[in-house]
Amino acid sequence: MNPHEGSAAEPLPLPEGFLLGVGTSAFQTEGAVAEDGRGLSIWDVFAHTAGRTYRGDTGDLACDSYHRMEADLDLIAQLGVDAYRFSVSWPRIMPAGTGAVNAQGLDYYRRLVHGLRARGILPVVTLYHWDLPQALETAGGWPARETAVHFADYARVVVEALGDAVGMWITMNQPQSCASDGYGTGARAPGLADPIQAAKAAHHLLLGHAFAVAEIRALLGQAARIGISLNLRPVRPLFPSDAVLAEQVACDRYATFASAVLAGRYPEQSWLMKRLPPSYLAELERFPAELDFVGVNYYGPLIVTQQPDAARVRFSKPLGEYGQAADVVPAGMECSSMGTVVDPSGLLEVIADLRSYAPNVPVVVTECGYASHDYVDPGGRVRDLERSEYLRRHLDACVASGVPGAGVLGFFAWSLLDNFEWGHGYSQRFGLVYVEFGTQRRVPKDSAKWFTRVAQSRRVES
Ligand code: BGC
Repeated sequence: MNPHEGSAAEPLPLPEGFLLGVGTSAFQTEGAVAEDGRGLSIWDVFAHTAGRTYRGDTGDLACDSYHRMEADLDLIAQLGVDAYRFSVSWPRIMPAGTGAVNAQGLDYYRRLVHGLRARGILPVVTLYHWDLPQALETAGGWPARETAVHFADYARVVVEALGDAVGMWITMNQPQSCASDGYGTGARAPGLADPIQAAKAAHHLLLGHAFAVAEIRALLGQAARIGISLNLRPVRPLFPSDAVLAEQVACDRYATFASAVLAGRYPEQSWLMKRLPPSYLAELERFPAELDFVGVNYYGPLIVTQQPDAARVRFSKPLGEYGQAADVVPAGMECSSMGTVVDPSGLLEVIADLRSYAPNVPVVVTECGYASHDYVDPGGRVRDLERSEYLRRHLDACVASGVPGAGVLGFFAWSLLDNFEWGHGYSQRFGLVYVEFGTQRRVPKDSAKWFTRVAQSRRVES
């Protein structure tokens, strides 16, 4: 528990060198899906398949960031942040996933990186944020080992083009989500539901990560700062009888990935140990790659139960692979519009867990954010006090000293803009900046103004 949480103490200062940033990803913001030589991604296909996303929303236009680079760069600069995390779209760089390189795609990201540098903002690049080229999916997708090899080739092309203008490299965003939701439950692209394929996908995503780290290191040497972003959540049982379930879910979803990346092994009781052909395990010697930081994407804890009907709940979502079990938000518990429980102490818990694999691992919070049903009021303002409060409490947890999470190097609010929220389409808003999707008008919300105050004063202002 953060001793500072809930107190009326003086605003805490950000530690020297602490990176304050905002993030986005390519598919969620760029639009321009059929322009300048970009190839199809699995998310184009998934979103255009009936019944996959809320009201059939697609990423075709998204925030139109591809065409609005200069204005969006100015927005980021106005926020006063130190860093901007964005992802490179693999199908924009290699339309078929492998082979021919699309010069126009590289050019777009060169301009973006240089535009950030020109404004004094550190570019933080995610190489893979879920938009696999469809051609590679057709050839077997992440369940096929070749995809990991192609990923490393693609990483090399991007690193050669952007080089040391990039401040930090993140190989992958949330491999667990790609594997489990993409191939296990089918809730995300490519939408398959096959546990064995999901296990193979997880393994190859992690292998691709290790290959990519080696490529980046070979090209840029020790000066490069390389990491990965993992989604991590403490898993809590709703009833005491759910304790075993909670432990298994925590192991499968979170410990498996942290352990593979940092300690080079899958936990004995992990779903991967049960499902992967033994020959795969020999490849674990490729892990762990030497990392300069681990990115933590944290939104809130997961509360699980085998008896979703036995409790009064506000939200309930089947867990997918555990029979009747669901993740739930009990009535009365604070949560976002997307049903994510709010609990900053969970962020410290997951950081402490990470450190059990690698005690000195530098941690960067690469995503933390809050969904709410925002709107522009008649005075032109977006009053999203809950978001500022949410961010303040989590940032405070990171910078309070003497707590298990202390020593975090940076904090990236998710997200710069309201954007395409995957299966939820445009129904969930995470932005510091409101996007009116019909006109593409941007309106900085009250939370953006608060974030700017923090960036300027270098204190976690209330
Ligand atoms: C993903 C983001 C997403 C956010 C909010 C994270 O898991 O990396 O792309 O928008 O959660 O759901």
